[in-house]
Amino acid sequence: MASNCKIILYFSCIFSSFLVSSAFSEAQVLLQFKNSINDPLDALSDWSNSTAIHHCNWTGVSCTNDVPFSVTSLTLQSLNLSGEISVSVCELENLAHLNLADNLFNLPIPLHLSECVSLETLNLSTNLIWGTIQEQISQFKSLKVFDFSSNHIEGNIPESIGSLQQLKVFNLGSNFLSGSDPMVFGNFTELEVLDLSQNPFLITELPVDIGKLSKLEKLLLQNSGFHGEIPDFFQGLKSLKLLDLSQNHLTGKIPRVGSFFLPNLVSFDVSQNKLFGSFPKGICEAEGLVSLSLHTNLLNGSIQHESINECMNLERFEVQNNRFSGDFPSWLWSLPKIKLIRAENNRFTGEIPDSISESAQLEQVQIDNNSFNSKFPPGLGKLRSLYRFSASLNGLYGELPPNFCDSPVMSIINLSHNYLSGRIPEVRNCIKLVSLSLADNGFIGEIPESLSELPVLTYLDLSCNNLTGSIPQDLENLKLALFNVSFNQLSGRVPSSLISGLPASFLQGNPGLCGPGLPSSCSDDKGMSKRFGLTKLTVAIISIGLAFALVIFALGFYLVYRSYMPKFESCPWRSVFFYPLRVTELDLIMLMDEKAASGKTGGIFGRVYAVTLPSGELIAVKKILKFSIHSWKSLKSEMKTLAKIRHRNIVKILGFCQSDDSILLIYEYLPKGSLGDLIGKPDFNIPWSVRLKIAIGIAQGLAYLHQDYVPHLLHKNLKSKNILLDNDFEPKLTGFSLDRIVGETVFHSTLSSESANSCYLAPEYGYTKKATEQGDTYSFGVILLELLTGRQAELKESTEPFLDVVKWVRRKINITNGALKALDSKITSTSSQQQMMGALEIALSCTSVVPEKRPSTWEIVKRLQCLDSRTTFSVQDIDISGCIESESSVPV
Ligand SMILES: *[C@@H]1O[C@H](CO)[C@@H](O)[C@H](O)[C@H]1NC(C)=O
Ligand SMILES: *[C@@H]1O[C@H](CO)[C@@H](O)[C@H](O)[C@H]1NC(C)=O
Ligand SMILES: *[C@@H]1O[C@H](CO)[C@@H](O)[C@H](O)[C@H]1NC(C)=O
Ligand SMILES: *[C@@H]1O[C@H](CO)[C@@H](O)[C@H](O)[C@H]1NC(C)=O
Ligand SMILES: *[C@@H]1O[C@H](CO)[C@@H](O)[C@H](O)[C@H]1NC(C)=O
Ligand SMILES: *[C@@H]1O[C@H](CO)[C@@H](O)[C@H](O)[C@H]1NC(C)=O
Ligand SMILES: *[C@@H]1O[C@H](CO)[C@@H](O)[C@H](O)[C@H]1NC(C)=O
Ligand SMILES: *[C@@H]1O[C@H](CO)[C@@H](O)[C@H](O)[C@H]1NC(C)=O
Ligand SMILES: *[C@@H]1O[C@H](CO)[C@@H](O)[C@H](O)[C@H]1NC(C)=O
Repeated sequence: MASNCKIILYFSCIFSSFLVSSAFSEAQVLLQFKNSINDPLDALSDWSNSTAIHHCNWTGVSCTNDVPFSVTSLTLQSLNLSGEISVSVCELENLAHLNLADNLFNLPIPLHLSECVSLETLNLSTNLIWGTIQEQISQFKSLKVFDFSSNHIEGNIPESIGSLQQLKVFNLGSNFLSGSDPMVFGNFTELEVLDLSQNPFLITELPVDIGKLSKLEKLLLQNSGFHGEIPDFFQGLKSLKLLDLSQNHLTGKIPRVGSFFLPNLVSFDVSQNKLFGSFPKGICEAEGLVSLSLHTNLLNGSIQHESINECMNLERFEVQNNRFSGDFPSWLWSLPKIKLIRAENNRFTGEIPDSISESAQLEQVQIDNNSFNSKFPPGLGKLRSLYRFSASLNGLYGELPPNFCDSPVMSIINLSHNYLSGRIPEVRNCIKLVSLSLADNGFIGEIPESLSELPVLTYLDLSCNNLTGSIPQDLENLKLALFNVSFNQLSGRVPSSLISGLPASFLQGNPGLCGPGLPSSCSDDKGMSKRFGLTKLTVAIISIGLAFALVIFALGFYLVYRSYMPKFESCPWRSVFFYPLRVTELDLIMLMDEKAASGKTGGIFGRVYAVTLPSGELIAVKKILKFSIHSWKSLKSEMKTLAKIRHRNIVKILGFCQSDDSILLIYEYLPKGSLGDLIGKPDFNIPWSVRLKIAIGIAQGLAYLHQDYVPHLLHKNLKSKNILLDNDFEPKLTGFSLDRIVGETVFHSTLSSESANSCYLAPEYGYTKKATEQGDTYSFGVILLELLTGRQAELKESTEPFLDVVKWVRRKINITNGALKALDSKITSTSSQQQMMGALEIALSCTSVVPEKRPSTWEIVKRLQCLDSRTTFSVQDIDISGCIESESSVPV
């Protein structure tokens, strides 16, 4: 017994000492790993060699479940880590998963990690990894997940990658790969996810051997440079669920029926290419499998169509913006899981069958600009989740069924430019309808009264029909941003609030309409009389009535004085002034003179009015239509954030008011107007010293927003029109962070619709759609180029071809010594020239196509100030060639 006991003791002793030593060494390895890393947030603070916490319980560390505990996984994502990834980590013998995604590692691909013998997952997505993929990548033999998406990896994919035959996930999306893909994808027989999307310089044909990947579930090749035809590779992709080939330059036809077999497909997207021809009859069925599918359908008891199709899982189908023709695949309309159908801007023909009612999940249909030729199917009205149906520019004919707008979530209907006829049915059920366009059809009868009961209806276009009768009075209650009834046969009085604020052209072509501002005034003019229940008596009585009405009006006005506006009838105003303005919201509205409004400096989010207060003081008021559903409280807190900013280069916000439909932002008034307007003048010739001062001021304002102010703010819409100048040419930024006021969605959609090609927008915005500090820096660089060249950055409404300033300067500089020729000759003198060359260098680095190469805003300030103070400046100091080289190495 005793000896047995001893033996057990002895063993447990050995065992525990083994435990301790292994734990000790693994902990040491981890500490060594930590030592090579910069950890600014101190996220790894519990990684310490005090034994208080077992290393398996340290942040991000996971171990085997059993003794001896051994590290299997390190998950250290989104911790702002940077520095080196020490090879010592490979001493963790069982390390299988290393996830360092979303950090700031600024390194080439860490090939040395191939020494980690057990490594299966290497996730370094969203870092600053750079350089090319080396041949040695082949040494990662055991790797199953390789995720280096959203980095700066460039160059070819080397052939040797073909030896990573265990790969399940290969993700190099959002990088700068180039060249052609090697024919090695066929080797990845285990591959489930292949992502080479968002590689704009990957200009090549689709790799045919992808067709061998029978386990592939996601093929994501969108928004890269793929061209040529889609190879006949679908047959092998039996497991494919997600196919995205959109936004490339693919051409040719979709491979013909029969060779197509994607039974598990969930999402099919080939939009925005140059594909043509007719669409295959089925994308999920295969010849020879008809009996099988018949069988399955019998089991479900649901044989509904002659064409048996197997796309039972298909949810999204997107083929828009191509050149497809022929009949639209009709089986799509009745798929049980289909949610989205987009086919706009093609030349499809065919019908929308009534069996559309079977696709019970359908949410969105966009088939505008095709040649669909059918009646509006009553089956559509039975769908409960449909929120968008747009089929403008087609050949739809016949009457609209009474249920056309019955879906309780319906939000957008666009049936303009078709051949619909008959009366417009009353609409009551689609209480979420925002936009209804029935323009350019053959509708007759009256505008349905019930439209005025749709609380959020904002865009109503009934123009170019044959509508008669009068405009329903109650439409006044809606907050219509668009109300177009031009070219009908309407008659009678136009409700007054439908006239004010909307262009008269929306009413033209209706000779029978009358009212103030229209060619004919109404015979029974005195609109008030009706409302106050007075009948037409003598003129005297009408005047008395009017006077009476005015008294009531004034009385009412007095009662609701502080918060109500007569013009905006029941619209309550609330306001906060950060500065004693001694003015009421009401005065403010009254003082806002339409004629003095400037669309120019206001920009796309609203007009700016110059208002002279009773005290003689001038202020600027920006009126923004309110779309967001900001509560008063959240608006107030956003405004406070913006209004607290006090900096000499930022326009002061003095206060704001809000009503149900608009927001008034009150700013200090700056007499000289915007820098953009100044540069636009033909005689723009302020001297370089002043321009440099302006540039420094703008940079200081921006640096303050970016780095000093808490919370850090981005400008997001920086352009010379958003720089105002005071009497001493001190620049002040305005129009910043408007997304906080109008709401992010409206901000982004407005920005991208209005300035998709704006040369102030950094090129990467095109695909990231994300505002960044570097994006602001880019915009600043463009303004600096404007100051240097005296050219406007862009001319939006120019008829002649106009080179934007960035392109113009780049092209000038491409000619030897052309840099000098790019400078504004009106102000270039021997004394200013060298400073201007220095500034040009800064502007070019700010407008680098690679965001990381752009300087930070404080660095810009320093470098500009440095120019200013430097009087002797030799041309040798300016390394403009290097700068241009780095520019031209990446195609713009
Ligand atoms: C571990 O802690 C001791 C003191 O407790 C210290 O002297 C030693 O340098 C530490 N080792 C490492 C690797 O940090
Ligand atoms: C980790 O912590 C948990 C509870 O906090 C504990 O039960 C477990 O034993 C610890 N693991 C190790 C290996 O020390
Ligand atoms: C992490 O780094 C980024 C970029 O440098 C910075 O914007 C961000 O504020 C940092 N995060 C934290 C929590 O400090
Ligand atoms: C890599 O990590 C990121 C961030 O956690 C994650 O979103 C992504 O799915 C991971 N990649 C893979 C292939 O798991
Ligand atoms: C592809 O796999 C085969 C073995 O199946 C191997 O011989 C070949 O070298 C691999 N190709 C590449 C490019 O590594
Ligand atoms: C309609 O689609 C064609 C391509 O089929 C395109 O060229 C045209 O610009 C589109 N028209 C409109 C109004 O979008
Ligand atoms: C409706 O479709 C027409 C033609 O495609 C388009 O011009 C118009 O902007 C659309 N209207 C709305 C409100 O979306
Ligand atoms: C409008 O209706 C009238 C009579 O009802 C008809 O003569 C006219 O052709 C119609 N106009 C259009 C554009 O349909
Ligand atoms: C100008 O551009 C062309 C074409 O990109 C290039 O070959 C040439 O080297 C450039 N010249 C200079 C001086 O950069």
